[in-house]
Amino acid sequence: MTIRISELWKIYRVGTEKVQALRGVDLHIRANEFVAIMGSSGSGKSTLMNILGCLDQPTAGKYELNGRPTHKMGAAALSRVRNEEIGFVFQSFELLNRASALDNVMLPLIYSRTNFWGAKKRAAEALDRVGLSNRMDHRPNQLSGGQRQRVAVARALVNKPSILLADEPTGNLDSKTSEEIIALFQKLHDEGQTIVVVTHEEDIAGHARRIVRLRDGRILSDHPTEADPVHREFLARAALMATEAVAVPTADSLPGGPP
Ligand SMILES: Nc1ncnc2c1ncn2[C@@H]1O[C@H](COP(=O)(O)OP(=O)(O)OP(=O)(O)O)[C@@H](O)[C@H]1O
Ligand SMILES: [Mg+2]
Repeated sequence: MTIRISELWKIYRVGTEKVQALRGVDLHIRANEFVAIMGSSGSGKSTLMNILGCLDQPTAGKYELNGRPTHKMGAAALSRVRNEEIGFVFQSFELLNRASALDNVMLPLIYSRTNFWGAKKRAAEALDRVGLSNRMDHRPNQLSGGQRQRVAVARALVNKPSILLADEPTGNLDSKTSEEIIALFQKLHDEGQTIVVVTHEEDIAGHARRIVRLRDGRILSDHPTEADPVHREFLARAALMATEAVAVPTADSLPGGPP
């Protein structure tokens, strides 16, 4: 699995307005990497993810996925690559509300013409992988937010994609559930899955091995997580707050007790 992006541009045209969402991005991602993409709102993260996921095409520049030049492909070839190589997880889950967890996960296999029983077995295995073998018959509205996102992860994995892409997968979840989802990503990464995840949360990004930061459609920095200056500062501040929380006396701990 390799992603090779060079001089990638994306310009959106809205009426007579032009928005330069990506302005010359170079990025190389190898097999079994776990990359977090960060950057403020509007910096181009989703635009980049949609191109990585073959949901959209760049205006200019190259994107080679496993040696295949996707920037030269038409819609049909692109959607074939998407089905074969990409698993995508969205902030809003994007599940079919009337279908069971199992049916939601089976859906991509039906598009790829897997036979019914084979599809059912693989969907059940994918749900088992995300820890939901006891919720296969539940519909999305009968699941918690974290469980819904697990179903979406299982659906993304069912075609055995070479790359798992997730655009703010914890954006709609509370912090405890977010930790569970990112822990699941970490498990999948340990099992060999290549992962790219967009997040606004520094602690979520801390689970990835590499942090790429965007600003105004360009790469601002690209470091291993432990060497990322912003992330190091975040960790130092968190550690300081933890020690202060222990050290600061409360009224009860003062000599003579509370006033
Ligand atoms: N379909 C579109 N048509 C026109 N402009 C768009 C479109 N999608 C995104 N943009 C513009 O491109 C820029 C980058 O948007 P993008 O969605 O990639 O940002 P983002 O980093 O994902 O932001 P957020 O953190 O808010 O999700 C923004 O200025 C946005 O307004
Ligand atoms: Mg976005």
